[in-house]
Amino acid sequence: MKTRIEIVQGDITKQNVDAIANAANTTLLGGGGVDGAIHRAAGPELLDECRTLHGCRTGEAKLTKGYRLPAKYVLHTPGPVWHGGRNGEAELLKSCYVNCLRLASEHGCKTVAFPSISTGVYHFPLDKASAIAIGAIAEYLEAHPEIELVRMVCFDARTKEYYDEALTDWEKNA
Ligand code: APR
Repeated sequence: MKTRIEIVQGDITKQNVDAIANAANTTLLGGGGVDGAIHRAAGPELLDECRTLHGCRTGEAKLTKGYRLPAKYVLHTPGPVWHGGRNGEAELLKSCYVNCLRLASEHGCKTVAFPSISTGVYHFPLDKASAIAIGAIAEYLEAHPEIELVRMVCFDARTKEYYDEALTDWEKNA
């Protein structure tokens, strides 16, 4: 499993993979953070296509083309805002990863990159979010050999440490 999950520090807009996930909001009309970076890199046609999607519910995912990005597709998924952990945040965050991977499989993607969904503006604690993300990805990959590689693209070293640890912990308990 370790060979099919990579943790890197970098910029998701530069990843040469079939699909990148976007930590969007429910309007799908862009924003700051990684959402803003992806829209800037993809160019204005991305927003044009997003407008035709009429938003997306938290935990669900919708696919667009990647336009000027190296990635062929963008998987837009609104993560949950952290409100203390008793509002179904964990299940919603897991469904972001699973629904993005399902769309990737449906569209013949073999390689997928994710940012750390919900751990920025949405304040989901990194220790919990990284464990949920790695668990969801590893579980999906076990049942879906068609996805050859999932790369967690962490924007800073602190985030990468949490995902490295989550992957190590998962392998210990697998
Ligand atoms: N590549 C990879 N990761 C990035 C990049 C990038 N270019 N830019 C930011 N990030 C990281 C952040 O450092 C953070 O670790 O993405 C992670 C998610 O942070 P946010 O972008 O704030 O996303 P989130 O917490 O899910 O909040 C979503 O923010 O931008 C708005 O429209 C978006 O309303 C939505 C909300």
